[in-house]
Amino acid sequence: MKNELTEIIGIDYPIIQGAMSWVATPSLASAVSNAGGLGMLGSGHEPGETVRKTIRETKELTDKPFGVNVLLLSQYVDEVVDVICEEGIKVVTTGAGSPGKYMKKFKEAGVVVIPVVASVALAKRMEKEGADALICEGMEAGGHIGKTTTINLVPQVVDAVSIPVIAAGGIADGRGMAAALMLGADAVQLGTRFVVAHESIAHDNFKQAIIKAKDIDTVVTGQITGHPVRVLRNKLTREYLKVEKEITSDSTPDVTRLEAIGKGALRRAVVEGDKDRGSFMSGQSAGLVHEEQSCHDIIQELMTEYKEVVTLHAKRLNE
Ligand SMILES: Cc1cc2nc3c(=O)[nH]c(=O)nc-3n(C[C@H](O)[C@H](O)[C@H](O)COP(=O)(O)O)c2cc1C
Repeated sequence: MKNELTEIIGIDYPIIQGAMSWVATPSLASAVSNAGGLGMLGSGHEPGETVRKTIRETKELTDKPFGVNVLLLSQYVDEVVDVICEEGIKVVTTGAGSPGKYMKKFKEAGVVVIPVVASVALAKRMEKEGADALICEGMEAGGHIGKTTTINLVPQVVDAVSIPVIAAGGIADGRGMAAALMLGADAVQLGTRFVVAHESIAHDNFKQAIIKAKDIDTVVTGQITGHPVRVLRNKLTREYLKVEKEITSDSTPDVTRLEAIGKGALRRAVVEGDKDRGSFMSGQSAGLVHEEQSCHDIIQELMTEYKEVVTLHAKRLNE
C-alpha cells in the first residue's frame, strides 16, 4: 500500500507502532519494522548516549527504517536530537511541545519530523514550523491525551493542513484502520494493541489486563493537573481520582500528593506488573484486543481485515 507517507518513510504498510515509554524498546520497534510497519523507540528522559545505545541495538535487529520519539520536555533533548541526526534515523515523532528549535538540524540530517497533535490549532502551527506530517491523536488513546475524539480530530486536521496525517487513538483492527483512512488519514498509529505483542517486553500482567479489559474499563486521571492520562482502572487510579476530587475545590490544589502517587507508576506496570500500584496506560481499544500475537501477525491481520472491509463496501456500492 503506497502513498505519499509510506514513500517518504520507506515502509510497506501504513501502520506505525506508537512510541510508548518503557514499552517501545528495540525488541518491539525492530519487530514492527521487520513486519513492514514503522517501529518507534521511546527516548523519554534518557541521556543522549543511552539513546544511541538503544538505536544501535535496534540496528542489530533490523535493516528497515525505524523512528525515535523525542520528549521535548526532557533535560537531555539537545543531546538526543544530536544523536538522532548522527545515527541517520529516518523518522522522529515529538510530543510535549514544539520541535521548531530543532527543525533546521533535523532537515539538514534528512530526518522526517512528525509531531503528535491533539488540536487543529496545534496542527496548523506545526505545519507552519516545517513538520513533514502529523500524528492526530484522539482522546480514546492510551497515555497522555487531548480533548477531541479521533473521528472528529482527523478530518478537521486533514481539512486544515496540506501535509500527510496519521490517525491515532482507538484503532486496533482493520475496521478502525479503514475508518481512519476514510477520514483522510494516510496511516494509522497503534499503541495499546502493540503492548500485547509477543515482542513487547511489557509484563504479562499488563498484557493480560488489556486482554481482559472491556470497553468501559479505562479512566482518565490527571485532569486537574492539565496532563490527563488514559489508563486501566485499578487500585492506583481509584486512589488518584479520590485525591483529585479532594483537592479540586482547594484554591491552590496541592498536586504534590498526586505526583507522589504517580511517581514511577508506569515502570511498576510495565516492568513489575504491579496490579495495584502500576499505571496500566491503555486506550479504550483494549476492548478490541483479545490475544497476544507477533507483530507480523498483528500487521497482517490488520491488512486482511482492512481489505475485507473496503472490498465489502465497494461491493455494496455497486449492488
Ligand atoms: C503504555 C503506553 C505508553 C505510551 N507512552 C507514550 C509516550 O511515551 N510518548 C508518546 O508520544 N505516546 C505515548 N503513548 C501513546 C501511543 O504512542 C499511541 O499514540 C496511542 O497508544 C494510540 O492510541 P491507542 O492506545 O488507542 O492505540 C503511550 C501509549 C501507551 C498505551
